[in-house]
Amino acid sequence: MKRVFSGVKPTGHLTLGNYLGALRRWAEVDQHRADALFCVVDLHALTVDHDPARVRRLSRQAATLLLAAGLDPRSCTVFVQSHVDEHARLSYLLECVATDGEMRRMIQYREKSARERERGGSVRLSLLTYPVLMAADILAYGTDEVPVGDDQTQHVELTRDLAVRFNQRYGHTFVVPRATHPPVAARVMNLQTPTSKMGKSDDSGPGIVYLLDEPEAVRKKVMRAVTDSGREVVYDREERPGLANLLEILAACTGGDPEALAGAYGSYGALKKDTADAVVEVLRPVQARHRELAADPVEVERVLRDGAEKARAMARPVVDRAYRAIGLLAPA
Ligand code: TYM
Repeated sequence: MKRVFSGVKPTGHLTLGNYLGALRRWAEVDQHRADALFCVVDLHALTVDHDPARVRRLSRQAATLLLAAGLDPRSCTVFVQSHVDEHARLSYLLECVATDGEMRRMIQYREKSARERERGGSVRLSLLTYPVLMAADILAYGTDEVPVGDDQTQHVELTRDLAVRFNQRYGHTFVVPRATHPPVAARVMNLQTPTSKMGKSDDSGPGIVYLLDEPEAVRKKVMRAVTDSGREVVYDREERPGLANLLEILAACTGGDPEALAGAYGSYGALKKDTADAVVEVLRPVQARHRELAADPVEVERVLRDGAEKARAMARPVVDRAYRAIGLLAPA
């Protein structure tokens, strides 16, 4: 059976982008066809200016939302990254294989470090080494596939490079993984600035649909989405990004095809209304389940404790093997 690993970072409230690009497929497809692990990657949330209490709260909320989205602990392993020491242990070894040039070339590092500097802040060293920790997350489990949105492609490519390099230098140790993406909505764009990704850590509220938004808020945000100045409804990501984004969201929510859907609409208003309704319907069961689970935090904690135990048992032999391969003395 294939091994699948993916994760979500608790740096903000989860968005429709996270759901359509990742969580929904994890729940509907990946957990049933693979030996799958899904992780709240809390160590990654410490790479930018953070408030400890908020990270803790968002980690709990993200874990609850993973379960609300349909991840079933009987079918997959759900856990929190910092509960399994192997991630940090392996990350250091991979830092001894990666180069600083490689890290500085990462798009997300360049964007995020520029933003931190613009704000007059300093850039944490952990932001530079972020992709190495992410590689450790993936490689510690002998992962074959990493289901992610488009924005993570470069990080998964780097993970492959590090795995191949380690294997060549120190003997076969790691499985070389590959990224998989959903057929539509692999990059949901911000509704107000449809040339940039709908990101949970961004500040522009009206352009972001959060998974826990009330139906009225969802409707308002979708109806006010920035579209383009044309009149007919066509699917063209380059020339008509706002419209293409709505068509992709609608397609992802209804199981349709964005190009075919474009042909079915005569006006932007009708498209927006149907998209808003479709998003509300897709979120409704997730929100209902979230309410139930949020009322039973002890059960969520139990799932995370069991998940961490299972994850640890899977990661430890792989990481121990890497320690020996790279030249460290096995403890007596
Ligand atoms: P994160 O927390 O930013 O996002 C979690 C998942 O959601 C996807 N995603 C999107 N998909 C479509 N449209 C969007 N607008 C959108 N925004 C986010 C992301 O691609 C991702 O699949 N570095 C990762 C977390 C991570 C990880 C890992 C992932 C750490 N270690 C190991 C996979 C494997 C991140 O920041 O995801």
